[in-house]
Amino acid sequence: MSSTAMVSIDAYSGKATCERLLWVHRWTDKLLSFRTTRPAGYRFTAGQFARLGLEIDGEVVSRAYSITSAEGDDYLEYYAIIVPEGKFTSRLNQLQPGDAVWVEKLSYGFMTADRFVDGEQVWMLATGTGLGPYISILQQPEVWQRFTDLVVVHGVRQREELAYAETFSHLQQHAREQGWPARLHLLRCVTRQADLPAEPGWLGGRITTLLKDGRLEQACGLTLSPEHSRVMACGNPEMVTEVRELLRERGMTPLRRTGGGQFVTEDYW
Ligand SMILES: Cc1cc2nc3c(=O)[nH]c(=O)nc-3n(C[C@H](O)[C@H](O)[C@H](O)COP(=O)(O)OP(=O)(O)OC[C@H]3O[C@@H](n4cnc5c(N)ncnc54)[C@H](O)[C@@H]3O)c2cc1C
Ligand SMILES: NC(=O)c1ccc[n+]([C@@H]2O[C@H](COP(=O)([O-])OP(=O)(O)OC[C@H]3O[C@@H](n4cnc5c(N)ncnc54)[C@H](OP(=O)(O)O)[C@@H]3O)[C@@H](O)[C@H]2O)c1
Repeated sequence: MSSTAMVSIDAYSGKATCERLLWVHRWTDKLLSFRTTRPAGYRFTAGQFARLGLEIDGEVVSRAYSITSAEGDDYLEYYAIIVPEGKFTSRLNQLQPGDAVWVEKLSYGFMTADRFVDGEQVWMLATGTGLGPYISILQQPEVWQRFTDLVVVHGVRQREELAYAETFSHLQQHAREQGWPARLHLLRCVTRQADLPAEPGWLGGRITTLLKDGRLEQACGLTLSPEHSRVMACGNPEMVTEVRELLRERGMTPLRRTGGGQFVTEDYW
């Protein structure tokens, strides 16, 4: 799916509102989270994405961004990579709190946990910033109450790119305090660094390799099956394509609007 668009400010202002950048957190020199004000009346379901616009040379350049904040937060948060020479992200990288960010009035996307009407485990596979939608999903109490196991698999090149570690700890603690039944399994898959902690949850290699050879399942002590598992995959489109093939080999099919199916995916480019 293409996320590219460039339109005049006049044309864009009909479908978007001019919001303000509230906060920026830099994880690394090219990874950041940022928050904007939330447009009045803005509605979304955890897992969906917003379309944001930045004014560049008198026009608006818009891109899709998954929302990482909870459905009830009064701001919208996103997790972004600065792409070398990227039109949108080069500008994003220069923004300061108070600067204008256009937010389209509608939210988009079908990668939401409420579409899983059966199954006990939710597997959330992400490369890079594909983690974003799961941060939002995991802030919704329903997902902790409805499922027994929530498996987050985050694939990155270097371990410094494993963002939101504290958020996961807080969520785990909060779930325990609330007595919610689901267990959170966090699997970190690092591909370009050898000295990983010799602790549970740390894996060397691509998500697809680890899925194929059974190490992902081994690492969390669960079996992926059409009966029990529901899967989301988000991020690098080649990863997403390979995951779809691997899941099909296991007898799983894409979620259908008319019912049935076990997985849903989102390509970021
Ligand atoms: C549904 C959807 C949701 C998205 N959500 C997010 C999000 O939450 N966070 C985010 O950072 N991006 C997200 N993207 C990608 C985002 O919309 C832009 O593509 C990205 O910001 C680059 O824009 P650009 O103009 O700077 O670069 P462009 O000139 O558009 O460069 C595009 C190239 O940059 C690379 N690239 C683009 N996005 C990424 C990425 N996320 N990770 C690694 N490489 C990338 C690819 O090689 C791609 O061909 C999403 C895309 C889609 C379609
Ligand atoms: N500054 C630079 O020098 C430089 C150089 C290259 C790219 N970039 C930019 O950096 C960004 C890359 O962002 P990123 O690291 O978040 O995303 P990414 O390239 O998609 O990598 C994230 C993780 O996904 C894995 N992956 C890639 N293809 C896969 C596949 N087909 N199946 C399974 N896993 C796969 C990667 O493994 P692997 O490590 O095995 O690929 C890595 O662990 C892009 O915007 C790119 O343009 C910058």
